[in-house]
Amino acid sequence: MMLFFSFYGSFNLSGQVPMTARPVQPAPDIIIPTGTSSFDLIFRVNGRDGRLYQAYLGKKLFDPNEVSQSRDAGHPAYATFGTDNLFEPAIRMTHNDGNPSLELKYVSHQEEKPDNNITLTKIKLKDPEYPVEVTLNIRSFRNENVIEEWAEIVHNEKKPVTVFNYASSMLHFDAGRYWLTHFHGDWAEEMKMAETELTAGIKILDSKLGSRAHMYQTPVFMISLNEKSDENTGELIAGTLAWSGNFRILFEVDEKGSLRVISGINPFASEYSLIPGQTFITPSMIFTYSGNGRGEASRNLHRWALKYGILHGDKPRYTLLNNWETTYFAFDQNKLSGLIDDTRKMGLDLFLLDDGWFGNKYPRNNDRAGLGDWQENRAKLPDGIGYLVKEAGNKEVKFGIWIEPEMVNPASELYENHPDWILKLPNRPEHYYRNQLVLDLTNPKVQDFVYNVVDELLTKYPGIAYFKWDCNRMMTNTYSPYLKDKQSHVYIDYVRGLYSVLERLRKKYPDIPMMLCSGGGGRVDYGALKYFTEFWASDNTDPLERIYIQWGYSYFFPAISVCNHVTSMGKQSLKFRTDVAMMGKLGYDIRVNEMTPEELKFSQEAVANYNRLKDIIWHGDIYRLVSPYDENRAVLMYVNEKKDKAVLFAYTLNARKGETFNRVRLQGLDPAKAYRIQEINIMPGVRRTGTESGRSYSGEYLMNIGLNIGSTAPLTSQVYEIIVQN
Ligand code: GLA
Repeated sequence: MMLFFSFYGSFNLSGQVPMTARPVQPAPDIIIPTGTSSFDLIFRVNGRDGRLYQAYLGKKLFDPNEVSQSRDAGHPAYATFGTDNLFEPAIRMTHNDGNPSLELKYVSHQEEKPDNNITLTKIKLKDPEYPVEVTLNIRSFRNENVIEEWAEIVHNEKKPVTVFNYASSMLHFDAGRYWLTHFHGDWAEEMKMAETELTAGIKILDSKLGSRAHMYQTPVFMISLNEKSDENTGELIAGTLAWSGNFRILFEVDEKGSLRVISGINPFASEYSLIPGQTFITPSMIFTYSGNGRGEASRNLHRWALKYGILHGDKPRYTLLNNWETTYFAFDQNKLSGLIDDTRKMGLDLFLLDDGWFGNKYPRNNDRAGLGDWQENRAKLPDGIGYLVKEAGNKEVKFGIWIEPEMVNPASELYENHPDWILKLPNRPEHYYRNQLVLDLTNPKVQDFVYNVVDELLTKYPGIAYFKWDCNRMMTNTYSPYLKDKQSHVYIDYVRGLYSVLERLRKKYPDIPMMLCSGGGGRVDYGALKYFTEFWASDNTDPLERIYIQWGYSYFFPAISVCNHVTSMGKQSLKFRTDVAMMGKLGYDIRVNEMTPEELKFSQEAVANYNRLKDIIWHGDIYRLVSPYDENRAVLMYVNEKKDKAVLFAYTLNARKGETFNRVRLQGLDPAKAYRIQEINIMPGVRRTGTESGRSYSGEYLMNIGLNIGSTAPLTSQVYEIIVQN
């Protein structure tokens, strides 16, 4: 379907300065409905002024055309700057004649339906005086109740124009009150959840870090409308920007109490000179609406991510043994051979060799040298990676390897040979973080280099079955030798350079699983996850801390993508550490050879249990039952699609003496079915703590009366397998 419409008329809308009306017969309004099976995002072209407005965003309407009865035109769908908009714009540009204003009028819209689930609505807008076009793209996923929105900006002026703001989306809300939930942190402190009421004015969540851009703030948020939401009640939007660089999500409450949410690349220090005919495509803003609390919002996003957001979301993953926390840089071929044996002994799928395997002139024996020189260190690995791949093959496990191809240590041959490939300011001292610098990925030659790090390893050693791709620093003293007089492009073109490398790699190697890592969770977003199968959530593997970190990610990212390793960090029991890591994608980074026979047996059984349950955890629906932010415990469960299998995790944190816990009502089960409850992951010789183990109940009982779970002993945990009885 394609509709065309173009006219210029008068307008007088709240929040806008009236302009002189022309004596033109107003055209009829055009309603453009977009939306999913549970919510609508409806646009309206005002026949009087030809502009596009957001007329409605919320629960599904029976008849979207009813919005035309409302006397308000709505809010600008993509507010410009320079004419009459009085608030934060979605787009701002200066034309090549110096005119700093933009006016956008509706031209046409079109709908594409590649299948029954997806509808892509493209709404074309144009400046009546200048050859500038903006197309708003709204891709809606009917069954998953998710919308992806992005903009495309193009012009045909004689010379380049400068674009200062280029939002992906602009959403408006008219609720009584707004509660913003966001997730901030630092290295080893990712995803700390905070909630605040939005009052008049602007609140910004952003990053100016360039690379490792989400170290302090993840590009995700929830906005609860009218009142705070909880897991099962309340109206909210949960959104995230698919961009691995500087982002900005801006919340502005105006004088009438309306909220506009503008999401996109951070325009800070990033004005973009757009040449004629070049299209500036913004990243996608992804969001869902729920009228039934946060649980539903998460399940919507997870279902979408498994199908559309994460590479191979529908496929299995490898369990693995990693050597980072057990060896750091101190290993050799023999030690690694032993770890490959341990991988097999534990019943894990893959051994992952971490940092420290490369560099000869500047051996990578600590983080001060070698980054950039991706050749095996001959002292540690005299027989090369090939030997390790073969060793793994002989022991019937897979082999994976760590790389950090975007970075360089000054102590490296790469630094010596290609000083012009590095982001660094002239006339200023080099500024290090973790003793390293960032490569200039805006430069196509550097992109080739980064591509070749992976391509050469895989060409030489086709048996490599997995990569961990790290990125351990942000940008400082940033200057791109390649971009010359276009320095304000660096933050944007860096990410585009990275994506173009990943795109090329995925063309040649579509299947190989890759873990996205950035000094822990410094780069977690759906822009990158198109190319990665999973991400490393944090370098903090203390399970008590980890419960909160994993809890935070669970609002936006499905468990299959969140890598959790059982390590020696923290003072909790091995059982507690294992039960916490099992909540997502399980791995180990622990000295298996130092385990007692009981610990080894427990771990082998836990891996076997995980293999039995992993499909429910990876592809099932999550229900967060008790939040660690509300109580001294955390309880959550996953239920498979058929509702005949579920797994429940319960963790007691630091309960006070005498504190009691209420029963926990389960969710997501079939009320009419009977389920058997079985506690698993029991340390040999230790009594079960779960009193309900071995019993059977109806789904109705479990969801209304609930289970007595969890002991109040601090730092204890239970895992229950819940299976329908025939
Ligand atoms: C980062 C990662 C760790 C590890 C080290 C290696 O900190 O987050 O998991 O790979 O780098 O240097």
